[in-house]
Amino acid sequence: MLHEFDSVIVGGGGAGLYAALEASRTANTAVISKLYPMRSHTGAAQGGIGAALGNVDTDDPVWHAFDTVKGGDYLVDQTAAKILAEGAVQAVYDLENRGLPFSRTPEGRIAQRRFGGHTRNFGEAAVKRSCYAADRTGHMILQTLYQQCIRNKVEFYDEFHVVDVILEGHRCAGVVAFELATGEFHVFRAKATLFATGGFGRMYRVTSNAHANTGDGPAVLARAGVPLEDMEFYQFHPTGIRGMGILITEGVRGEGGVLKNRHGERFMERYAPTLLDLAPRDMVSRAIMTEISEGRGARGDRRIDDYVYLDATHLGRETVETKIPDIQDFCKTYLALDPAEQPMPVQPTAHYGMGGIPTDVDGRVESSTEVYEGLYAAGECACVSVHGANRLGTNSLVDLIVFGRRAGQHIAEYVRGTDMPVISESAADGARKRIARLRERTGKGEFPGPLYEKMQEVMMSDVGVYRDAESMRRAVDRLRELRTRLGDVAVQDEGQRFNAEILGILELENLLDLSLVTAATGLHRTESRGAHSRRDFPERSDDEWLKHSLAWMTGDQIELGEKGVDVSIWQPKPRTY
Ligand code: FUM
Repeated sequence: MLHEFDSVIVGGGGAGLYAALEASRTANTAVISKLYPMRSHTGAAQGGIGAALGNVDTDDPVWHAFDTVKGGDYLVDQTAAKILAEGAVQAVYDLENRGLPFSRTPEGRIAQRRFGGHTRNFGEAAVKRSCYAADRTGHMILQTLYQQCIRNKVEFYDEFHVVDVILEGHRCAGVVAFELATGEFHVFRAKATLFATGGFGRMYRVTSNAHANTGDGPAVLARAGVPLEDMEFYQFHPTGIRGMGILITEGVRGEGGVLKNRHGERFMERYAPTLLDLAPRDMVSRAIMTEISEGRGARGDRRIDDYVYLDATHLGRETVETKIPDIQDFCKTYLALDPAEQPMPVQPTAHYGMGGIPTDVDGRVESSTEVYEGLYAAGECACVSVHGANRLGTNSLVDLIVFGRRAGQHIAEYVRGTDMPVISESAADGARKRIARLRERTGKGEFPGPLYEKMQEVMMSDVGVYRDAESMRRAVDRLRELRTRLGDVAVQDEGQRFNAEILGILELENLLDLSLVTAATGLHRTESRGAHSRRDFPERSDDEWLKHSLAWMTGDQIELGEKGVDVSIWQPKPRTY
């Protein structure tokens, strides 16, 4: 089936919805989403949106931009960081005007809380910058934007999985998607196509990411020849529920929660004497893993699945119930404990990919070597790059509202002066053949489940918080082998309708490709910077490595390149907190 729109947005999370909303001012716009948009992973974002409103403490967008650059270990493009921090203030007020129910100060202003790495006056002291709606901020963003998109007559194609992009040279002409309910293929022809498919945290076993976060956008584009940027930088959030990885928001520490080891010691005093528990995430995650490896985790057995405690008992029941009610619910449901009474067992959880599809500040896909016309990306699947080597807490929501909005605004202008691209009748043939081949594999070969688990174990143990050449080389070999085995996988369900097995195999292909790029780029970067912590190269090396990586994928081969970092405002310095 063929559909034609001025703009097609792939992904119904915060970035996709904001882009759709802005684009739909001039463009007839469709959103294709693997899920119902309200179930997108943006809904799991708890703690808030950093924006220098200055409602509680004196603040300035330039301090926010500086914190972003320093938090990202100076691999951040600095002009983009300024646009992020300034755009955050405008986007938060825009969301408020559109009806987002922010929590309030007693005077009725948008309330703000502390978050990791946010400071005033270039690192002088912590600042309250995160604008929040209790611990349901992402959920409220989705509600607000979805309602506004419906008002603007955006058309939604729910439960459609993107399988291919239509690129004629460097001109994008749309996408091919697979309708889960019927198994039919749909070609979406469009003047502008934006990918906002979110993250790919399911490549790790312990992750805060939803099952749907399988990197569909970056994987589809990488297979079509688009390079990926800075994929070696994958963030572990310090506080996931032990074993499960479900997020315990940094907002708990923002409200005064404290990390403790098995001796009840506030260990962050030794690692970040000024910002303590609210140091940037890479530092806190490393501190927890060091406590564990030195025998001070809760069990004391030095194994990587040991954990520490997040103590919020001193905050009082009223704060817990009003400021972090969902966290209290999760703890009761999954751990049978009440955080107002008992500390929470936590461990670092795979949370956010700093790298992704390279874009400029208007969401247009481009690397230093290639520009793609009519192709956009925004949100976690994109790399603007404002997160560098380690994203600052809250800046994922900031990224998606600022750059989702800007990309939509750019699309609204772009489609006005652009003709509908031509596509060939065979545009869907590649995707159709790929899935037909899978349907022929009934009863032959091994099942995909164990391959999925193996990939997650490899990534967890060999490309985790700490890594080195030996572990990443091993990971590259194992991931290549898993990719080959996936080619011979067995399918049990030949059916057309809601074939979750075929969907799962397509998702696993995407994750394996992105895992391989992550391990290969990590192996190449022989330094430690932000979330890329190498045991064998523990120092940051600006002389050699102050540059972004680019990776092109052909089959299981990765070709590597590089591009410069914009350091036009602040010169790199050692990071202390
Ligand atoms: O801790 C959190 O609430 C997560 C926020 C984020 O990833 O920015």
